[in-house]
Amino acid sequence: MKKLLLIIASLYLPLGAFAVEEIGVPAQGGAPEYLFLEKVDEAEAHSTAEMISKSLAIGRLVIFSHMGVLTDPELGDKGFTGDYFLEQWKGALEAETMGATPVQQRILGKLMWAGKQSIDNNQDRLNVKGVKWKHFLPAKWAREAGLMFNSRTGIVTRQPSINYRHPSNAPDAKEKEVLAAFVKSGQEAKPVGEFAMMGKQKVYRYFDPVHLMEPCLACHGKPKGELDMLGFKKDGLEAGDVFGMISVSVAVEE
Ligand code: HEC
Repeated sequence: MKKLLLIIASLYLPLGAFAVEEIGVPAQGGAPEYLFLEKVDEAEAHSTAEMISKSLAIGRLVIFSHMGVLTDPELGDKGFTGDYFLEQWKGALEAETMGATPVQQRILGKLMWAGKQSIDNNQDRLNVKGVKWKHFLPAKWAREAGLMFNSRTGIVTRQPSINYRHPSNAPDAKEKEVLAAFVKSGQEAKPVGEFAMMGKQKVYRYFDPVHLMEPCLACHGKPKGELDMLGFKKDGLEAGDVFGMISVSVAVEE
């Protein structure tokens, strides 16, 4: 028995030799952080990012315009299926996507798939009866659709904001800088973009301001610090103010 314990101890002891120096730091070197399955020509980078951002903004509006039904506690099955949503979304997008190139059409097809999938994934949540706020919002749809879109394209879409509620929307250094400029410009804030590197991959980064509308103020409005219906502290903003942005990073062919 003693011998056995000694053998076990000697197996574990060497591990102590690999003491970790610092915990939670980014790995150095290696391939780009994301696998870029879709890449666009430099000349198409801006219009592609713009198309993706507009599509997400319009998808958000489609959900927003159904919030009455979606938050009705009397209703069980809302009929707000992925297919229904896709039909509405596609209809609202037609004008924006008419001039899409074949590559952009393929990318858009993947975005449509991801957007529909996000609604399909949320059916159990959406169809709960007796609860008004089921934590399903345009921002949640766009976040979840963005993740699935990313897995099929490598294109990164996020919604960083001033006071982000979801941790995955924490702005990075560049996004913070752009957000500050957007806040300064207020109602006049316009989308901006630039080429940058993501690991070893050249990307086009596009930032599109999200302005608040009247109904958003129930949660993002005044009085600052008061709890909204979901328990978050309100942001103290007004209609027209910039709250956040849609941030899109598209890989560029070199
Ligand atoms: C019922 C409260 C509520 C209302 C109304 C509301 N939001 Fe939000 N907002 C949230 C919550 C909660 C999140 C986090 C969603 C998530 O990612 O799960 C969020 C997230 C966001 C984000 C992403 C950044 C973040 O905080 O994670 C943006 C941008 C945003 N909202 C803008 C808007 C706009 C524009 C409107 C009006 C069209 C609006 N919101 C209406 C509660 C609300």
